[in-house]
Amino acid sequence: MPSRIQYTPISDRSSSPTSINELKSEESEEYQNIQTSHSLFHWIAHVVSLLAIGILSIILVLSRGQIGRQCWERYNYYSPVNEALADRPYIENRFNGSLWYESPFKGPPSPAVEDAWHSIMQYGMIAVSASDMVRVNHTLRTAAQFPAEAGGGYIAATVGTHQLHCLHYIWQDHHRSYFPNVLKKVEEIPEMYERHYEHCVDYIRQSLMCNFDVGLVTYNWVRDHQNPTPNSNAMHKCVDWEHVQGWLKEKAVEVPEGFTWKQPEGQESLPFNP
Ligand SMILES: *[C@@H]1O[C@H](CO)[C@@H](O)[C@H](O)[C@H]1NC(C)=O
Ligand SMILES: *[C@@H]1O[C@H](CO)[C@@H](O)[C@H](O)[C@H]1NC(C)=O
Repeated sequence: MPSRIQYTPISDRSSSPTSINELKSEESEEYQNIQTSHSLFHWIAHVVSLLAIGILSIILVLSRGQIGRQCWERYNYYSPVNEALADRPYIENRFNGSLWYESPFKGPPSPAVEDAWHSIMQYGMIAVSASDMVRVNHTLRTAAQFPAEAGGGYIAATVGTHQLHCLHYIWQDHHRSYFPNVLKKVEEIPEMYERHYEHCVDYIRQSLMCNFDVGLVTYNWVRDHQNPTPNSNAMHKCVDWEHVQGWLKEKAVEVPEGFTWKQPEGQESLPFNP
């Protein structure tokens, strides 16, 4: 049966299809070829995606500690104590800013309140290595070391412990009549006492400005107060205090009872009070 389909003047094939059936079967073969290559590509794409997801997941899991460390190091100067905290998640915590909060650190002074203060400063002195000293940009030439009997190492305290010491100093000053040793210093070395006091206030100021706390103190209407009242029970992300204390406890150095300090022979010393 003659058909217009048979007329293929621009065909480049050597043998032109001669019937609709032939044409159809050729078309479907071509279609099938395209289908097969499409589905092959489809599966390769799937396999590649799965491999990529698998490899990325492994990298992510392996680098989780690394990322924590990088975050920590981005916002903290080098310290050997970083090793205790860099991989620890911060703990979400609400401060208690109530005037009626019965904190164990609040006065009036008593042996129990003093014990509370001393308990948070007890792992004050730790031994650090020569490379720690260099990394915090301090010279070894004038650096003091623990006696060999105590295990040696360069003497250091964390700035955090020093801040707590300063806050305690200010708190004691407020209750100075309770503390005979405070009264004694005020009496005997008034200028040094004053310098120490002002140093402590200014050191805490520097620390607070350096670690500016962006938590929000909100304001409430309270009872029939005619002014908005601040609510300082603010949320915070805090270091894992127990964990860092555990680390400091391990590194804390106790100088033997009755040990007397003395500059070693030929020791170079700083020519000024740092
Ligand atoms: C703060 O302490 C007070 C008194 O101890 C207590 O009644 C209050 O619930 C505490 N507030 C918060 C936010 O923990
Ligand atoms: C290290 O300390 C010295 C002397 O205090 C100072 O001149 C220098 O800028 C410090 N280096 C860095 C990297 O902070």
